[in-house]
Amino acid sequence: MSEWHIPFNRPGLVGKEQDYIAESIANGHLAGDGPFTKKCHALLERELAIAKVLLTTSCTHALEMAAILLNIESGDEVICPSFTFVSTINAFVLRGAHPVFIDIRPDTLNLDESQLERLIGPRTKAVLPVHYAGVGCEMDTINSIARSHGLAVVEDNAHGLFGSYHGKYLGTFGCMATQSFHETKNFTCGEGGALLINDPTLVERAEIIREKGTNRSRFFRGQVDKYTWVDVGSSYLPSDLLAAFLYAQLEARSEIQERRRQLWERYQNELQGWGREQGVRLPIVPAGCEQSYHMFYLLLPSMGQRQDLIAHLKERGILSVFHYLPLHLSDVGRRFGGQLGDCPVTEDVSDRLLRLPFYNGLTDAEQQQVVSALFEWHRG
Ligand SMILES: Cc1ncc(COP(=O)(O)O)c(C=O)c1O
Repeated sequence: MSEWHIPFNRPGLVGKEQDYIAESIANGHLAGDGPFTKKCHALLERELAIAKVLLTTSCTHALEMAAILLNIESGDEVICPSFTFVSTINAFVLRGAHPVFIDIRPDTLNLDESQLERLIGPRTKAVLPVHYAGVGCEMDTINSIARSHGLAVVEDNAHGLFGSYHGKYLGTFGCMATQSFHETKNFTCGEGGALLINDPTLVERAEIIREKGTNRSRFFRGQVDKYTWVDVGSSYLPSDLLAAFLYAQLEARSEIQERRRQLWERYQNELQGWGREQGVRLPIVPAGCEQSYHMFYLLLPSMGQRQDLIAHLKERGILSVFHYLPLHLSDVGRRFGGQLGDCPVTEDVSDRLLRLPFYNGLTDAEQQQVVSALFEWHRG
């Protein structure tokens, strides 16, 4: 049990998870790419109208696969927001890439596309838009700049499954995109992820990389009579037990997204007036973006006030958390030359952002307690 009266996140069952796990055990196929993995692939490929989906052991691993597929090598530059999770860029740094950090827009906290062009150099290979909180980046501009410079676009869509931008699903704009099914995400199997592949020419090699560098997938399809080592690779496929859990969650997608929409809108409606009075900014979702309802954040006027509000909620048993520390100012970021002032919006937002409890099983009564606790707080 959590020590918190209202935790930040509480993963829970939404449907047939336990039935499907029992079925998976009965199937006798617990390793990867069993019946439930195939069901997850088919569901996501159909829903998102995408060439190929491959479940992975995490979003981090899907990003690593993307970096291998793009043949990233020593000295290649990859542009990525400083305001993101370490895996977005670490997967590319593992292949020898040099990170180039781009600042974010003050409204959506997504990478600021107006700064993209000036960061592109002769060694730039890829750009990694992160759809923060499941609100789409300006993909029309990003894709057109990337196209004119011959750059690959890999969307880190860890937050954004079933969100869309101008009527098209997030994760379908880049040559590849990555999903996370970590327990903090809208859909989970504890730890898990997926690589979405929009460029069909990448599919066959992706299967090989995911299967330890072997052509085992072709063997299972009867396309070769034995399988062997044909490329670099690793073990990126999750057990079918996890896919069984995940499939139950994906099947319940309408229900999950509807509940999250209600929770998000209630926070938004209840907190608008209070936010104006206290100088607290609520999330901004631009027209044309259908968000995935992944998180609800607040931007406090200052870091001191943010810390004060975290402590205020903690006294009431409510866990609220900050988010990304600027990557360009991390130990590794500094080794790559990152300095204070490189990404001023990121530095500012990182000090002031707070995320409220937000999960599928959050009850109306619990949410009301969070809202009431916020109303009891006044900036000093
Ligand atoms: C934007 C982003 N990318 C990648 C990840 C890594 O996901 P995973 O834990 O599935 O590897 C996270 C984790 O929360 C994230 O927020």
